Amino acid sequence: MEENKPKRRKRYSGKYPKTFEEKYKEQQPDKYQDVIEHVMEKGNTPAGMHRSIMIDEILEFLAIQPGEIGLDCTLGFGGHTKHMLTKLNHTGHLHATDLDPIELPKTEQRLLDSGFTSNDFTLHNINFRDLDQIPVDGFDFVLADLGVSSMQIDDPSRGFTYKFDGPLDLRMNPHTGIPASIRLLELTEDELEGMLIENADETYAKEIAHEITLTKARGELILTTKDLFKVIQIALKNLPKSIQEDSIKKAAQRTFQALRIDVNQEYEALYDLLEKLPLLLKKGGRVAILTFHSGEDRLVKKAFQHYQRTGIYGAVFGPTLPTQTEVFNNSRARSAKLRCAIKA
Ligand SMILES: C[S@@+](CC[C@H](N)C(=O)[O-])C[C@H]1O[C@@H](n2cnc3c(N)ncnc32)[C@H](O)[C@@H]1O
Repeated sequence: MEENKPKRRKRYSGKYPKTFEEKYKEQQPDKYQDVIEHVMEKGNTPAGMHRSIMIDEILEFLAIQPGEIGLDCTLGFGGHTKHMLTKLNHTGHLHATDLDPIELPKTEQRLLDSGFTSNDFTLHNINFRDLDQIPVDGFDFVLADLGVSSMQIDDPSRGFTYKFDGPLDLRMNPHTGIPASIRLLELTEDELEGMLIENADETYAKEIAHEITLTKARGELILTTKDLFKVIQIALKNLPKSIQEDSIKKAAQRTFQALRIDVNQEYEALYDLLEKLPLLLKKGGRVAILTFHSGEDRLVKKAFQHYQRTGIYGAVFGPTLPTQTEVFNNSRARSAKLRCAIKA
């Protein structure tokens, strides 16, 4: 009798790491090189790393010469910075700004470990809109690679994505400003709808703004990434079943993007940068800006065209898109657009 009893199936323990810490073993490259290679082969970015986008196109345009003074507005993982420092080859100087006080010291250590010193670079934990605070007589070249880094997105405690549960924060500098959860309390239904349309062209802006407002009116707080995801799920519950799951994911991505732009005042910062650049670039100075959505690309395009018309920029280029191979190898490159300008 006992022999005929079906064997109990072993409990499925799951293919993916259960905890963030386990996933982050990718962060220990010496120990887990095989994990990192596997993740990269699949076109993904290992946790705790950021793969720099359009490196060849940027370096070709910037044509960095020994002895020049440069600015990387968006240090991030330091990928582009390291390439630019290599071009300078221990001559000139590279300044780099980043708002993020958590990732900046790690990147500084990586640059030091790569053999660069404080003679080669200076890091500034400031907003790039304040680039005029950097004590230089102008820049020969400037790069801005807008948006957030993979390290920020992949860290659940920062709240940048609906994919991990965490506090609904979304600040690049968590020590200043207010988290997205509080910002949601401040915005009226109309303002929410406007923000979703303006910052992310959200198709279901009305429905999502209405559901957020109903949730707040019931006295329920939207404190975590999963809380907000649930609100979006409810807002779109009447969509046909065949498109519901996909539409909810895309709406969540756009909603998080819109909130991130709002909380970090990304358009305002970009606007200030674009306005100050002509004053801070030297004659013949080059600027390259990588954007990741239509709102910011439009701002860069308009500013470059304006300053070309007024004779401040002698030439403007772009948009240049990443190659198909780059997009295949790194899915985060798919929406990138590069625009460049040269000061007359
Ligand atoms: C896409 S990542 C840059 C990645 C970097 N180019 C690399 O190769 O590793 C963008 C970085 O810019 C920073 N950032 C975004 N807006 C900023 C701003 N207004 N001022 C300063 N840093 C900003 C973010 O904190 C993030 O670290």
